[in-house]
Amino acid sequence: MSLFTKKTEELLGWVDARFPLTSNVKAHLTEYYAPKNFNFWYFFGSLALLVLVLQIVTGIFLTMHYKPEADLAFASVEYIMRDVPWGWLIRYMHSTGASLFFVVVYLHMFRGLLYGSYRNPRELIWLFGVGIFLALMGEAFFGYLLPWGQMSYWGAQVITSLFGTVPFIGPDIAEWLRGDYLTSDATLNRFFAFHVIALPLVILGLVAAHILALHEVGSNNPDGIEIKKLKDKKTGIPLDGIPFHPYYSVKDLVGVVVFLMVFAAIIFFAPDMGGYFLEANNFVPADPLVTPAHIAPTWYFTPYYSILRAVPPIGISQFPGVAAMGLSVVIFALLPWLDRSPVKSIRYKGNLYKAWLAAFVVSFLILGYLGTIPADTYGQFGAWLGKADIATVVARICSVVYFAFFFLMPWYSKKDKTKPVPERVTG
Ligand code: HEM
Repeated sequence: MSLFTKKTEELLGWVDARFPLTSNVKAHLTEYYAPKNFNFWYFFGSLALLVLVLQIVTGIFLTMHYKPEADLAFASVEYIMRDVPWGWLIRYMHSTGASLFFVVVYLHMFRGLLYGSYRNPRELIWLFGVGIFLALMGEAFFGYLLPWGQMSYWGAQVITSLFGTVPFIGPDIAEWLRGDYLTSDATLNRFFAFHVIALPLVILGLVAAHILALHEVGSNNPDGIEIKKLKDKKTGIPLDGIPFHPYYSVKDLVGVVVFLMVFAAIIFFAPDMGGYFLEANNFVPADPLVTPAHIAPTWYFTPYYSILRAVPPIGISQFPGVAAMGLSVVIFALLPWLDRSPVKSIRYKGNLYKAWLAAFVVSFLILGYLGTIPADTYGQFGAWLGKADIATVVARICSVVYFAFFFLMPWYSKKDKTKPVPERVTG
């Protein structure tokens, strides 16, 4: 044994006597046995971790130059873009990272729907995930006000006004949230505090809980088989398991490389993604006296925004739409208890589940698209098809399909004709 190896071992022994380093590396990496049949859909958990780190690091550098004050905020972002060395890169990494975070998390959640990863015993992993999703939406919403552009300002004004629709106490809640009668400097200050410290702490805590829960029960896989049920009699290692490190750490690196290529291509060639990642109106400073003709949220919120617009008001109260929009997000938390299928993975589910999942995804995408177009184009779009409000009708049908996917699940998941699940993973 070389002197270097001996000294390293001694140092490790010293640390291990005081801190559970080796035991944790074993438990979570080198002796964490993951199913050997992970596929494409299993890239997105580690990618979500990568984006989380990127957002925190770029966010720290942005905070060094950003000024959370109504009179200075917009100019401080322009200063970052033009004068701070590499400031434009840091800002575009952060704005592109925000959108890609949602791309990655949506694909990660879709994997859950494909393979029933939310089912017993992974309900808590899923619930922590839904918590992360809600916190992430809050994080994106608070962050969007910070550049203090027209869309930042009016987007915040619209969303805080939604709380004003709650019967009786709504207007007080809206005012309390803004800290003023309108979106103002006070609002910007508190949104800054939520964006840079409160919600990142919540997200980090939830991600830690998410991964601890995952490592407690073990990962699901594309076959939906519990690999812990079949272990080697001598070693106690699952027969269908392989150590996370080096096998999946290396596989995940491939995902990281591809992801970084896409990330760089967007940053360098299309940082605003044609208005989907950064809206043109947000390059105009906020003006409380000029309401933009078309106020729409960023693309990742548009499916829920469409549901809000699709639900008709009762009298003059918009509350039904607001309630439906809230429900469309939190309903994901109920999935573990709505799915009554005897099998987890879509591989062994029947056509009924497949058809409902496809209808849900198509509705989600159509709602997402409709949420990006201005309400008055609904009319033009309709006129083109010869019906005044065809887009509203489409949005309503898609909203019904969206909710039916969840609420009818106990029925169709039970009625579905499933295939027998093999004992061992199939690859
Ligand atoms: C910051 C956001 C998130 C991070 C960093 C994250 C991280 C991870 C990681 C590293 C894994 C293990 C690797 C993998 O299975 O891909 C995982 C698994 C999982 N995540 Fe997330 N996650 C996030 C958000 C979510 C959300 C929003 C949901 C659902 C609402 C969710 C549900 C799940 C489930 C069910 C599993 C287990 C999957 C299986 O074993 O098949 N996660 N997550």
